[in-house]
Parts: sequence; C-alpha cells; structure tokens
Amino acid sequence: MAGKGVITPQKDRSDLIVRLQEAQQRYGYVPEEVIRALADSLNIPVHEVYGVASFYSFLSTRPLGRNVIRVCKSLPCYLKSAEMIMEAVQKELGIGLGETTPDGRFTFQLTNCIGLCDHAPAMLINQDTHVDLTPEKIKQILKSYQ
Ligand code: FES
Repeated sequence: MAGKGVITPQKDRSDLIVRLQEAQQRYGYVPEEVIRALADSLNIPVHEVYGVASFYSFLSTRPLGRNVIRVCKSLPCYLKSAEMIMEAVQKELGIGLGETTPDGRFTFQLTNCIGLCDHAPAMLINQDTHVDLTPEKIKQILKSYQ
C-alpha cells in the first residue's frame, strides 16, 4: 500500500503509466478528474500521479490542439540551428512554447531526440516526421495541417 512518503511499487507505477496512456488516447489529454480517480483506485498520492502525467512528453495534463508539433531540442538538432526552427514555428503560429493556437489547430512543444539526428534539425507533427528543416520549410509544412 502506497501512502505519504512511501515509494510506490514498480508494478503500480507501470499500471499507472498504462492507464494514463489510455486516458490520453481517449480524451486527448489527462483530465484532472482522471488523475484523482487513478490516485484513488491505485492508492497512489495525487501529487505522484500528477508528477508522472506531467513528466512524460507523450502525456499532457492540458487539452492539446488537433496537431501537436514537437521540435527536437537535443544537442545534434540544437547544433544545426533548431532554435531558428522554434522561432519560425512561433512566428508563424503566433504562440509560445507549450501554447495552443486559439482555433485549436496546433500545440507547440519540444521533444528530446527522435532518432533523426542524421537529418537534423527535425520535428514531429503528430506521428509525422519532418527533417532537414529550415525556417522557409516551416511555413509550407504547417499549411498542410488543418
Ligand atoms: S537530436 Fe534531434 S533528432 Fe536526434
């Protein structure tokens, strides 16, 4: 039994991640009610469930846009001017990091390496990969997502 100050057993933690992923798929994010219900049913403190839900980049505790942009922020991409890509995305969409456009079309996030370092800088939009990015390419790429 997990309580305050008690480390949650590994089994409970993997159950928690699976159930958080299910909620993410079902609602597009992990609502607060789900966090509380999971804490209750798995007997894990709410702050721990929230901590897990906000730690993993594939989970979100806030509603996301229809398309989630994840620009790689790891070193190989950074060295290939990923910062210019981030600026281009922000300029094109008029939103900052972690924000969603008012029309709900895009959410802008960063990610760690997505394994496309040979073609840095790289990003994901939903499950689609985009590589060898330039600020000029960003405009065209974003246009193709509704
Ligand atoms: S560092 Fe960006 S894809 Fe690997």
